[in-house]
Amino acid sequence: MTLHDPGQEASLVPFPAGPVIDRATIEGWARWRLTRRDFKPAPVISLGEYKKMSPRQRYLHDLHRIATHSNLPIQETPMSAAVDDAMRRLIQSNAVKRTERTRPGLMVNGGGFQGKTETVCETAAEFEDHWLELNNYLNPDAVPGTRDLIAPVAYVQTPVTAKPVSTCQAILDFFGEDYKNMNLPTLTRTVRRALKEHATRVLILDDITRLKMHREADQDVLDFIRDLMNITVVVLVGVGISKSGLLREGRQDTRTGEWVFPPVKDKSKSPNDEAVTQTERRFKLVNLDPFSYDTPQNIAAWVSHLGGIESQLRLFNAHDQPLTNGTMPEYLYRRTGGVVGLLGCLIEEACMAAIDSGQERLDFELLEDVGIHPGKIPGLNAEAGEVPAVPEQPAKSKSPRKKRGRNTVFDDRGGASAATS
Ligand SMILES: Nc1ncnc2c1ncn2[C@@H]1O[C@H](COP(=O)(O)OP(=O)(O)O)[C@@H](O)[C@H]1O
Ligand SMILES: [Mg+2]
Repeated sequence: MTLHDPGQEASLVPFPAGPVIDRATIEGWARWRLTRRDFKPAPVISLGEYKKMSPRQRYLHDLHRIATHSNLPIQETPMSAAVDDAMRRLIQSNAVKRTERTRPGLMVNGGGFQGKTETVCETAAEFEDHWLELNNYLNPDAVPGTRDLIAPVAYVQTPVTAKPVSTCQAILDFFGEDYKNMNLPTLTRTVRRALKEHATRVLILDDITRLKMHREADQDVLDFIRDLMNITVVVLVGVGISKSGLLREGRQDTRTGEWVFPPVKDKSKSPNDEAVTQTERRFKLVNLDPFSYDTPQNIAAWVSHLGGIESQLRLFNAHDQPLTNGTMPEYLYRRTGGVVGLLGCLIEEACMAAIDSGQERLDFELLEDVGIHPGKIPGLNAEAGEVPAVPEQPAKSKSPRKKRGRNTVFDDRGGASAATS
């Protein structure tokens, strides 16, 4: 297709513009898994080519550029690779178990916005891709006469006020099961049945540190989760796990480093009314840290991550290495503390400002003017420490900046972007 073919304009929807996919349902998870690599960044074109476009083509191209900067690719980092490795091994060695035997679990710990959710979901999705292929898209555990929808992975977000009932409901929400008027024993039975019927091999409970372990109900949730380890590999993801009280009942095995929890002793305390097995529960605890800037290897990893982002920037006046050249890596590290999510916020906002003003490149002056505000991101629970601290910005230089123009991309279909003015 040539970019200037007016015949193509009507069908030009160059990127998915639908609502954000909610991964916490069986359909949403499948849709995300199947489309997670579909996003195509805006084509690289010269300013000359851009100027030759019709106003509508320019409008669409600008939208596509903005979408490109807000859908920066998930890149493997040394820290995400370590988590991926631990999770993959655990899943692989336990997915094949057909008996009700306790499977070891995994806890993934890290600060907010450090990429825990993305890393864990990507590893789980990759497992599911292979698992479905291996099983020819059939449910190996299908019970005749029951629903046969296989869900090797269930992704569940811990409710903000998690109680045994609401945690069960969140899990059942993933499977689309009706739980109206169910009491707790029925709910727990239904959860166990749903996990078995959908042949679920991995249950991810994200943001588990929303549980405040001083509440009795939270301990009950934990007992219930430990019971589920007979059926599926449980992956718990959270912020500050070691301080959350989640490990309080556990002790660390000095030989393996795993956290070992005693079996639920008082059966009446367990929300699970099925037999509580007397085996202890084991969790491997892994950390997902931010980038560091202390050794040549760590600096090189940061610069390489910036290089991956750099190749996605679609600004007309940017020089070859806008993020990796000179002191820029150090500056970006100072602004973000090496937290991938904060870096993404900064780059997205800065690119928007660069397009908006017509400057079309990133420089220190522009970046200094861009604040990072993770508190505005929906879905983060500040009380559970999910909103990351942003490194303080040194006082700005006093020179007054010229006021930037307002971006018109979203309100004028025929409007030219600043790059053409
Ligand atoms: N490996 C990565 N490479 C690039 N961006 C990432 C990576 N991991 C996460 N991000 C981005 O960082 C932001 C926060 O990631 P998320 O997984 O939600 O963090 P957490 O669960 O730790 O709070 C998201 O916008 C995500 O796209
Ligand atoms: Mg998360």
